[in-house]
Amino acid sequence: MVHNATSSSEATRSGSGAHEGDLPPYLFYHTLGEVPDAAALRARMESLEAAHELPGDRVLYLAIPPGAVPEVVRWVGQNGLHRAPGWVRLVVEKPFGTDPASAAELNGLVARYFDESQVFRVDHYLGKETVQNLLVFRFANPVFESVWNRDRVDHVQITVAETAGVDGRAHYYDQVGALRDMVQNHLTQLLSLVAMEPPSSFHAEAIRNEKVKVLQAVAPLRPEDAVFGQYGPGEVDGRQVRGYQEEVGTASQTETFVALRLGVLNWRWRGVPFYLRTGKRMPARKTQVVVRFRPAPVCPLGPECPATPNALVIRLQPEEGFDLYFDVKCPGQPLALDTQRLRFRYGEVFGPLPDAYQTLLADVVSGDQTLFVRADEVEEAWRLYAPLLEGRPAIQPYAAGSWGPEGAEALLAREGRSWLHV
Ligand code: BG6
Repeated sequence: MVHNATSSSEATRSGSGAHEGDLPPYLFYHTLGEVPDAAALRARMESLEAAHELPGDRVLYLAIPPGAVPEVVRWVGQNGLHRAPGWVRLVVEKPFGTDPASAAELNGLVARYFDESQVFRVDHYLGKETVQNLLVFRFANPVFESVWNRDRVDHVQITVAETAGVDGRAHYYDQVGALRDMVQNHLTQLLSLVAMEPPSSFHAEAIRNEKVKVLQAVAPLRPEDAVFGQYGPGEVDGRQVRGYQEEVGTASQTETFVALRLGVLNWRWRGVPFYLRTGKRMPARKTQVVVRFRPAPVCPLGPECPATPNALVIRLQPEEGFDLYFDVKCPGQPLALDTQRLRFRYGEVFGPLPDAYQTLLADVVSGDQTLFVRADEVEEAWRLYAPLLEGRPAIQPYAAGSWGPEGAEALLAREGRSWLHV
């Protein structure tokens, strides 16, 4: 692992970090320091490879702040560290760039030294079992796939809500905000997986091709389709918490909440809004996708139709699983309906799920890129949000412990809809 001196991680101090004893000997942190010494890094790798009779396959994992990535990639390349007796793989964490231009520039720089097949861009949401299950759920169960379209779906809600504030990460967070920290990557990945067409196979390129096509079909964002918020003081989990500005110590205008309405202009989804929402200091930690189905075209149950449209709630965390909501007749007279659910929980059937990074690191070593973000995918994702980076929406305040500013409710209410709180 290559580590830049600008990081404050304890484990990385002076190249023999506090936790290094826990690592297998051929996995190590290497601090570059003020004047990085490529020869020392190469010698360290070569001596480990000789001592453990390793074939010289190397993973360069840049565990560094995003701003330092271009410099370190250039240094790696200029010093020939992208070459080895075996294969070399480069791992980079999100966010990749800060806007379309910087992402393209970073991709260009990486491509100077690495083939795309060697580059593993981490979005840790893709390593979550429940996120991977979105593909299996959709494409192994034709009963759902047959209603997964504009004829049957009214709209889709994607929520990533956190109770945490910015805690010890204020310095990083205040420079990025929720749009860059969460929406451009994690929420956009969920959008692609929910909306994509069936891939021709389950191989990395086939899946990533379909994900990119979704992003290419997203309509340009209009200012009225975006709501930015920032939390003030309030109560979360039964305790009083400070507002964001107090936490960061400035009159910052960084957004801690974003709600968006996106349209996907293809045959499957035209006319079906996708509402995305993420925020810090929400009332509950909850990542979920709600697919709200259309109501019955005609209601034979009386003039004031009592039926509630069906909903499928895919719970990505916590309580991983899904719920399918449907109406039943209450026994007896007069006629009354009650909404019930079919319920599945991963934990009850399979026990605890592996950590996302466990999966992702194993995939880097085996060379499987399915769960990593391709260069063109990153650039398309930035392109979607360029209008909001160029003309930032005004920040609307919300109390910590609430579901965001009023504008977020209004975004759906103007179309006769509301966020489903289940
Ligand atoms: C990270 C963001 O990528 O994802 C954090 O930088 C956020 O701000 C985190 O808290 C959420 O991840 P998870 O896995 O806890 O949902």
